[in-house]
Amino acid sequence: MLDAAKKLLAPSKRSEVPPFIVMDVMAAAAAAEAQGRTIVHMEVGQPAQPAPRTAIRAAQAALERGRIGYTETLGIPSLRARIARHYGETYGLALDPARVAVTTGSSGGFILAFLALFEPGDRVALANPGYPPYRHILTALGCQPVLIDATAATRWALTPQALIAAHRQKPLSGLVVASPANPTGTMMRAEALAELIGVAETEGIRVISDEIYHGLDYAFAAETAAKLSQRCVVINSFSKYFCMTGWRIGWMVLPESIMRAVDRLQGNLAISVPTLAQVAAEAAFDGRAEMERVKHGYEENRRILSEGLPRAGLDKFLPVDGAFYLYADISRFSNDSLAFAKRMLAEAGVAATPGIDFDPVNGHNFLRFCYAGSAAEMHEAVARIGNWLRP
Ligand SMILES: Cc1ncc(COP(=O)(O)O)c(C=O)c1O
Repeated sequence: MLDAAKKLLAPSKRSEVPPFIVMDVMAAAAAAEAQGRTIVHMEVGQPAQPAPRTAIRAAQAALERGRIGYTETLGIPSLRARIARHYGETYGLALDPARVAVTTGSSGGFILAFLALFEPGDRVALANPGYPPYRHILTALGCQPVLIDATAATRWALTPQALIAAHRQKPLSGLVVASPANPTGTMMRAEALAELIGVAETEGIRVISDEIYHGLDYAFAAETAAKLSQRCVVINSFSKYFCMTGWRIGWMVLPESIMRAVDRLQGNLAISVPTLAQVAAEAAFDGRAEMERVKHGYEENRRILSEGLPRAGLDKFLPVDGAFYLYADISRFSNDSLAFAKRMLAEAGVAATPGIDFDPVNGHNFLRFCYAGSAAEMHEAVARIGNWLRP
């Protein structure tokens, strides 16, 4: 083919971000199921339950009313006000609804936040292991993700010392923190988070706090970064606590000075967030009692795995504080987490995510288990893994 013709068909360099490896595990699990096998799914990080009934009813009523039009770019005002009220109810923080932007899931929030805060080439620190799209979105936007290794010794949290060391090597413009964290399920205490944010901001490093797993905290209450600093950006979502992954709806809390930039960006990129999802999200706050029952189910699953996996042979993991993940060290059995995950799926019928999705360096020694399914599935997984590892 001529060079000019090749160029017309080639994807851009910036689009060359790696895919989620978990998708391969999902495809293999689906293929096994198509052959009639039963698979215990612990690979995908999403709740098994539907959205709160209040949300579903509100969406149905909106559909009945007929026209679904665009909304204000930053979200329906009553939803922004309801989100702001949530900060008062949950964290004791009086928040001005004018600082809330509704987004297309937290994923939409990341794109807007990175665009509004950073220039191409800016270096943004991330804890390693961490949620892979942080680095892939940054890369696609021309920013530079800087992975800082975290270890079990700090419960997988970034320390101010590690942040400053990276900053001294070459200046950082930003930092993304997450507590509870994916894939480890560990959390930072409010004091530790406050110290990290304080150190970062003193150095001029902008902080983005991914709070998508707030509400799913078992060991102690998660603190919002919005209460610790007026300058950081908080990203949250209805996907996890409210079981609304497919509705694609989330929000951000931003410094007032950034609101107009986000308004301009979202207006151009998306006009507004899907209206039906916004209506449902506002009503979801009235379904908290239902969601608390779902959360208690996760707590029971956490207990089943924490007690059962060590008996099954997987005994190296930290106590999980929140979210619905357990990050197990499998180095006793393998130093190739992808091959191990494939074998566990093929031979034990349990699907989990290889650690290399979350940590390109040390992740070959880890597997992430998602425990958002049913208690019966957790018992089944423990039994299958036990029979497989200790025949
Ligand atoms: C840590 C973390 N942040 C963000 C997301 C994106 O979620 P959503 O776009 O559905 O809000 C996920 C999804 O798994 C996640 O685990």
